[in-house]
Amino acid sequence: MSSIERTDESRADLWFADQTWGSYARTEQVDKTFDLFDRVDRLPQGATVLNLGSGWFLGVNAAMQLRRPDLNIIGVDSGYRLLSISDEAHALDEGVRELYETMSESDRTALEADQRWRTNLVAGVVEQIPLATGSVDLLFAHAVIPENTEPHERAFMWAFEEMSRVLKPGAQALLAPHWDTPDSVWGRTVAAAVEGGLFDSGEVSENPIYIPEIGHTLDAYMTTFVR
Ligand SMILES: C[S@@+](CC[C@H](N)C(=O)[O-])C[C@H]1O[C@@H](n2cnc3c(N)ncnc32)[C@H](O)[C@@H]1O
Repeated sequence: MSSIERTDESRADLWFADQTWGSYARTEQVDKTFDLFDRVDRLPQGATVLNLGSGWFLGVNAAMQLRRPDLNIIGVDSGYRLLSISDEAHALDEGVRELYETMSESDRTALEADQRWRTNLVAGVVEQIPLATGSVDLLFAHAVIPENTEPHERAFMWAFEEMSRVLKPGAQALLAPHWDTPDSVWGRTVAAAVEGGLFDSGEVSENPIYIPEIGHTLDAYMTTFVR
């Protein structure tokens, strides 16, 4: 038996790390990768969007709320368990300051008046999502899976089971970037999730990504599931 076999109860404990990531996602990058804002614009009134593994820089959540204040936008991250620790709270505030510097006065006023974009955060893990079954209209995970998930079919499948559970029928899960091809363990697990009936479809597609820090584009992949 593989060492990764665990009971469901232990899924959460495994991934609650004692460190979280900083300001990684640029809002424009996440939008471009997922065509996110166009998809958000098309969601029905009051829909729920899950930013899974949302981290500390909540510009994407803020931008979605500005476009669609009617939406219920939720961030889930293992790191939010640490919100009471002053360093992490400080890190969140840094992200907010950075965000405010880049926006118009009227947008800033709107986000200060309605702070759900930075308070609608739930501590939880990809493998055991703390949301109700069939409650999510759109899910995305940027730079979370599989980079931060143990590279093992069983761990991927846990994540896929949970995404399937929380999505409404017909809703999409968008996962990127990742560097494994459709022939990889990741790709085979995606196919197995569809064959096993977790999703109607699942596609791994090339999605080259520009990395500003290194100044050029890398091969990367995106996975789209339809529930
Ligand atoms: C590279 S960061 C990306 C953060 C954000 N999505 C972005 O694009 O800036 C990875 C994030 O995933 C979170 N994470 C790692 N493993 C996780 C898990 N198993 N469940 C939930 N969140 C996880 C980390 O705490 C971190 O915030």
